[in-house]
Amino acid sequence: MERKFFEQKGRWWAAAILGVTLILFSVTAYAAAIIEGERMTPVPGKEGMVVTSHFLATETALEVLQKGGNAIDAAVTAAFSLAVIQPRSGNIGGGGFMLISSEKRNDVIAIDYREKAPSQASVDMFLNQEGKADSEVSRYSHLAAGVPGTVAGLAMALAEYGTISLQEAVSPAIRLAEEGFIVTPRFSDGLKEKEKILKRWDSTRKIFYKVDGSYYEPGDLFVQKDLAATLRRIAENGVQEFYEGKTAALLVAEMAKHGGLITLADMQNYTPVIRMPVHGTYRGYDIYSMPPPSSGGVHLVQILNILEGYPIPDHGHNSAKTIHLMAEAMKLAYADRSFHLGDEDFVKVPLKRLVSREYATSLRQRIDPEKATPSSTISPGKLNPCESNETTHFSIVDKFGNAVSNTYTINFSYGSGIVVEGAGFLLNNEMDDFSAKPGVPNAYGLIGGEANRIEPNKRMLSSMSPTIVKQGERNYLVTGSPGGSRIITTTLQVIMNVIDHGLNVQSSVTAPRIHHQWLPDELRIEEGLSPDTIKILQNNGHNVKQEAAMGAIQSVLIKNGMMYGAADPRRSTALAAGL
Ligand code: DON
Repeated sequence: MERKFFEQKGRWWAAAILGVTLILFSVTAYAAAIIEGERMTPVPGKEGMVVTSHFLATETALEVLQKGGNAIDAAVTAAFSLAVIQPRSGNIGGGGFMLISSEKRNDVIAIDYREKAPSQASVDMFLNQEGKADSEVSRYSHLAAGVPGTVAGLAMALAEYGTISLQEAVSPAIRLAEEGFIVTPRFSDGLKEKEKILKRWDSTRKIFYKVDGSYYEPGDLFVQKDLAATLRRIAENGVQEFYEGKTAALLVAEMAKHGGLITLADMQNYTPVIRMPVHGTYRGYDIYSMPPPSSGGVHLVQILNILEGYPIPDHGHNSAKTIHLMAEAMKLAYADRSFHLGDEDFVKVPLKRLVSREYATSLRQRIDPEKATPSSTISPGKLNPCESNETTHFSIVDKFGNAVSNTYTINFSYGSGIVVEGAGFLLNNEMDDFSAKPGVPNAYGLIGGEANRIEPNKRMLSSMSPTIVKQGERNYLVTGSPGGSRIITTTLQVIMNVIDHGLNVQSSVTAPRIHHQWLPDELRIEEGLSPDTIKILQNNGHNVKQEAAMGAIQSVLIKNGMMYGAADPRRSTALAAGL
């Protein structure tokens, strides 16, 4: 194995990457150990901090900061790099959300580059002849794809808030696609796991498997010529290349050939939107997170509002009492999600009421402090609506007072599994995030209602919650996670771990997590809770289920002039690195 590794064409690459990574790891880990004096330590920096789910993206973004670029430049560079090195979630064929905080302007804005339903989409497009929702079609066919927003969103971020050109931001990605990178065990395992779906389409099979159908193994060099050419065209011709140029033509031809709905007009008409983040406060800190079409910010603030009424710090971290109260608050919020949330450009969301303290107080009265309330007896709050399985997150902070919190996705790992022939990138299957039929759960078990029904040009409801916590005018915590329905609760727990329990940011990210989403009525936990805690929760009526790890939250905490980066150990390739 070792010999094979060093006989690869890309051995210098491998050596260089390994070398740089090891140096980064050892220098930062050593410094961190000294500063914090404990084992689970964050990575410190003074002039900039990058935390992503892939060390190569961390590296390309850090280089941008090193050369004097700002956090937005670094974020766009990281996003394009991830589209090459982490195709299971990094993308140009999907969409996402970016929160940008500027201390100088003292504002936080949100860029919504979520995919949109094609103009020919219809409410019952995923129902079969018996009127049942057909998840095979909503997840794995060309109909599964929404009009991609990533390229437009990243270009907008750069044009409005960046300092470097699109060409500069895309260039490391072009290099990684053209010259290739060394396959990691995680990359290889992912492609083995999803072989059945990815080998369905010729265009996908020939990119992700060798000519004889065999696997790329750790140590192999992985080159993507078509993707490199697409990225080069974007770098040379700008954002319109993706939405009107050759790339758009290839995507539209792919759709026409296989019964998809996205037309050239859909591509030309796609525009990202700058929105005002949802704002709330928690024990004196300001919380900014993603507004609709994400449900993330609304329910994050709603759950925090409910929990603020309890002495959580006294109850202690991951004690049965704390977990009980969190689970009860989560149930109420997810019940509201199922009914009230959708794209605000199409439906009225009772946003102000959902994030109000008054509403949280009324919800708190429905919580029994000792006993679990069965989900079957909980229903969404009656609010006046007329009141006005892979994603990736990264957090970046610069020395100019900017912070970027970005989550983007193609929905599942490798999205729909369909590569656009000739363009080398995967299409999302985000249409599955709409409710195909009211009351029928999506892939994450989330129930949706009329507010999230399919309509032409509408954005499908999301849970992605890129979040920035401020202390006065200063950025304090930059965080966010993948994990479908678990994104909101994962983000919640890191905020609580820092604010309520005083854990350092790495311990906050690493600590075992819990999740409840109303339906199914189960309290999902990660490995690591004590057996006696589990026993108390069961005795209190919780249906406790230990399942796989949840989320991958990449976070930065800024304190006393230092930046502390914490990569989530749930992703083997994740890396925090600072300047
Ligand atoms: O927008 C959403 O909420 C989902 N499409 C996100 C999917 C996801 O996080 C999968 N990752 N593990």
